Amino acid sequence: MKGVILAGGTGTRLYPLTKIINKHLLPVGNFPMICHGIEKLQSAGIKEILLVISKQSAGLYTELLGGGREWGVRLTYKIQEEAGGIAQALSLAESFMKPDEKFLVLLGDNLFEDSLTTYVQSFQKQKKGARILLKKVHDPERYGVPILEENTILRIEEKPENPKSDFCVTGIYMYDTTVFDKIRGIKPSGRGELEITDVNNVYAAEGQLAYDVLDGWWTDAGTFKSLHQASDWLLK
Ligand code: DAU
Repeated sequence: MKGVILAGGTGTRLYPLTKIINKHLLPVGNFPMICHGIEKLQSAGIKEILLVISKQSAGLYTELLGGGREWGVRLTYKIQEEAGGIAQALSLAESFMKPDEKFLVLLGDNLFEDSLTTYVQSFQKQKKGARILLKKVHDPERYGVPILEENTILRIEEKPENPKSDFCVTGIYMYDTTVFDKIRGIKPSGRGELEITDVNNVYAAEGQLAYDVLDGWWTDAGTFKSLHQASDWLLK
C-alpha cells in the first residue's frame, strides 16, 4: 500500500516559529515532526510515500530526507501552491495512485503511539470505501467529531460547538481512489478550504466509512501546548 503525508498549510497557530520554518520541520522529541510520520508508515509496511509540502522550506525537506533511503522508504514530493485545505492537498495525490489502489493518508502534524499495522491490515481486507481512526478526547470541539450509532458513523461535524460524541477524527485516513471524484464533488467551506470532513461525509452517506479507535496517546501538534505535549510523550 502507498502512503501520502500532507504537510502543506500555513501553521499560523505556531507563529512566530513558523515564520522561519515550516511547521512539520519543527523539533518534536528528538526528530523533526515529519520524521515521526514517515517512521510510522514505514513500520506498517508503507514504503512508497508522497509528501505534499508547501513552498516554505521546500529545500530543507530534501536536505533532511533526500529520496528517503535513510528511512527505508521511497519519497516523492509535490508542492501545494496555496493552503486550499486538506482535501485540496490530497487531490494532488491522484497521479501518484493507480486506478484501483487503496492508500493511507496522514496529516503531518499528527503524532501518536499506536502502530498502524493492524489498522492497515483491516483496511486491506475491506473491499472498498474508507476507514478512519478515532480517538477519545476531552476537547472534541477542536476537531472533526463523529456522530456514532450502533458502531456506524452517521456523519462527522467539523469543530462543532456542541459535540455529539467525545471522539475526534484523527488525521489518519485510508481511502480507495473514489476519493478523488468525491473531492471534485465538494465545495469550499466557510473558511475557503476544501474540507476532508466533507469528503468523509460522502463516504458516510454511502455507508462506506469504517473506523477503528486508537488505543495509545495521540495529538495533533498544531498548537504550542500540543507541540510540547507531543515532545514530552515521545521523550518518555
Ligand atoms: O488533526 C485532526 C484534525 O485535522 C481533524 O479532526 C479535523 O477534522 C481536520 O479538519 C483537521 O483539522 P485542523 O484544523 O487541525 O487542520 P489544519 O488546518 O491544522 O491542518 C492539519 C494538517 O493538514 C497540517 O499539518 C498540514 C495539512 N494541510 C492543511 C491544510 C489546511 C495541508 O497539507 N494543506 C492545507 O491546505
